[in-house]
Amino acid sequence: MTVTIVGSQLGDEGKGGIVDVYGEAADVVVRYQGGDNAGHTVVHEGEKYKLSLVPSGAVRGKVGVLGNGCVVNPETLFSELDTLREQGLTPDVRVAERAHAILPYHRVLDGIEEAEKEDLAAGTTGRGIGPTYEDKAGRRGVRIGDLLDPEVLRERLEYVVPQKRALVENVFGHDPDDEQFEGAFDIDALYEQYREYGERLADNGMAVNASAFLAAQREAGKNVMFEGAQGTSLDIDHGSYPYVTSSNPTAGGAAVGGGVGPTVVGQGEIVGIVKGYLSRVGTGPMPTELGFVEGQTPEDGGDTSDEAEELAKFIRDEGGEYGTVTGRPRRVGWLDMPMLRHAANVNGFTGLAVNHLDVLAGLDEVQVGHSYTLDTTEQSSASNQNATRSDDGEEILTMPATTEKWARCEANLRTFDGWADPDWTEVAAEGYDALPENAKAYLEYIADELETPIYVVGVGPGREDTVIVESVWD
Ligand code: GDP
Ligand code: IMO
Ligand code: MG
Repeated sequence: MTVTIVGSQLGDEGKGGIVDVYGEAADVVVRYQGGDNAGHTVVHEGEKYKLSLVPSGAVRGKVGVLGNGCVVNPETLFSELDTLREQGLTPDVRVAERAHAILPYHRVLDGIEEAEKEDLAAGTTGRGIGPTYEDKAGRRGVRIGDLLDPEVLRERLEYVVPQKRALVENVFGHDPDDEQFEGAFDIDALYEQYREYGERLADNGMAVNASAFLAAQREAGKNVMFEGAQGTSLDIDHGSYPYVTSSNPTAGGAAVGGGVGPTVVGQGEIVGIVKGYLSRVGTGPMPTELGFVEGQTPEDGGDTSDEAEELAKFIRDEGGEYGTVTGRPRRVGWLDMPMLRHAANVNGFTGLAVNHLDVLAGLDEVQVGHSYTLDTTEQSSASNQNATRSDDGEEILTMPATTEKWARCEANLRTFDGWADPDWTEVAAEGYDALPENAKAYLEYIADELETPIYVVGVGPGREDTVIVESVWD
C-alpha cells in the first residue's frame, strides 16, 4: 500500500509534519523529486528537525529512499545524516543509482544564471537544482551510480566540465578558475571529491537500484510513503512557469521519480497538503497576496493598503513566515481557490490535509480568493488583447495556463467569520467536532469546492496538534 503526500500550493504547506503523522504506519519513505531546495520540518518531542534532503520519515526510524527523480548533493546528504546522528538518531537512507548528482558547478551556475535573468529570475534556493535537471535532460549529467565507478566518473567529468568552463567564460564572462568558484570547474578536484562520495555511498550500502528495492519492499507487504517536496504551483509543467522549480512535485512525479507504476501510486491515497492561507518564497505572481515584500513581490503585485500590510504582518508573525536563514519576511496572502482547484485537477487528490488553522485564529474575518476576474486594463500589446478578449470580466475558477495571464488576475474574495484561539492541543485531542464552528465552515467550503474530503486538520506544528479525521493505511 502507498500514500503520496503532495504540496498543493507553493511549498511549505507543512508536508513534513503530515509525513510524520501518517508515516507512523509506513515502513519506507521516498522522496521522488527535487533535492536540497526543500525544507521539511518535523517537530518530535519538542525537538525540531529541519530536513532538506533526507526523507522526513528518518526522524521516526523509517527507511528513507531518494528516488531516481531526485537530484542529490552528496555533501548535503552526508552532513544532514551526520547532524541526525548527533541528535541521537540512526538514519537509514538509500539513494537511487539513477538519481542525478549535484556538482559544485551546478550551484555556481544557478547563482550566475539567476543574476542574469533579472525579471525572469525565480529567486531560486541557489542549490543548483535547475542546472542539474538541465544536464539530466541534456544527457550530460553525472548519476549517483557513476560515482561508484571511477572510470565512468572520470569520463563523464572530462566530457562535461570543459563545456561548463566555456559557458562560464564565453557566455557569462567569468574566469572559471577564479578563487570565488573554489575549484568548481577543476576536473581533478571534482573527480577526487566525488569518487570519495561514491566510496562512502558504497561502503554504507546506500546506493541502490531504487525501483527494484521498492518492488521488493512492496512484495514483502511493506507500506511505502511518497514524500513530495515543493508544491503544485512550483511544478515545472503545472506551475507558474518560469517561476517554478525544475521537477514534478505533482502526484504523477511519484510514479516516474519513485520508480513505480502509476497504478501503484493510484491504488493508494494521494493527500494534498494545503496551508490554510498562502505563502510564497521567491518571485512570480500571487493574486491573493497581502502586503509587499521588496525584491520578491512583482512591481504591480501585492496589496499595499495599511489594512493588508497589517494582516500580512499578523499572519507572518503567527505563522513564523520569516526566512530561517535570512530572517526576511516571506510573501503571504489569502487562500487561493483557483490554484487549489488546479491542484486537485492535476493531482487527483483522494484527501486533503489543511494546516495552519491556528495561525488564522483571532482574526475577525478570514478571506479566500474564490475566483479571479481578468484585469484587461493594463494590456500593452494588441496580441494580448486578442488573446484575452473572450475572458474580459468573466469569472475564472482555475489558474490560467500562462503566467502572464495569471499575473493579470484579480482575486474575487469571499469572507468567512473568524474563529477564536482555543488551546489547540486540547482541541486536537478531542477531535474534529471540537474545532471552532467557523473553522469547520471554512474547512467544509474547501472540501466542497475541491470535491475532496478533509483527512487531517493541522492546528499547530507538532503531531499532538493534529486532528486526524481519516486514517490512510486501511
Ligand atoms: P514543508 O516544506 O511543506 O514540509 O513545510 P515547512 O516545514 O517548510 O513549513 C511549515 C512550517 O509550519 C514548519 O515550521 C512547521 O513546523 C509548521 N507547521 C506545520 N503545520 C502547522 C500547523 O498546522 N500550524 C502551525 N502553526 N504550524 C505548522
Ligand atoms: P519545500 O519542499 C518553497 C522555490 C524557490 C524559487 C523556486 C525555484 O520546503 O516546500 P529552485 O531552487 O527549486 O530552483 O527554486 O522554487 N522553492 C520553494 N519554495 N518551498 C520549497 O520547498 C521550495 N523549493 C523551491 O524559492 O522560487
Ligand atoms: Mg519547506
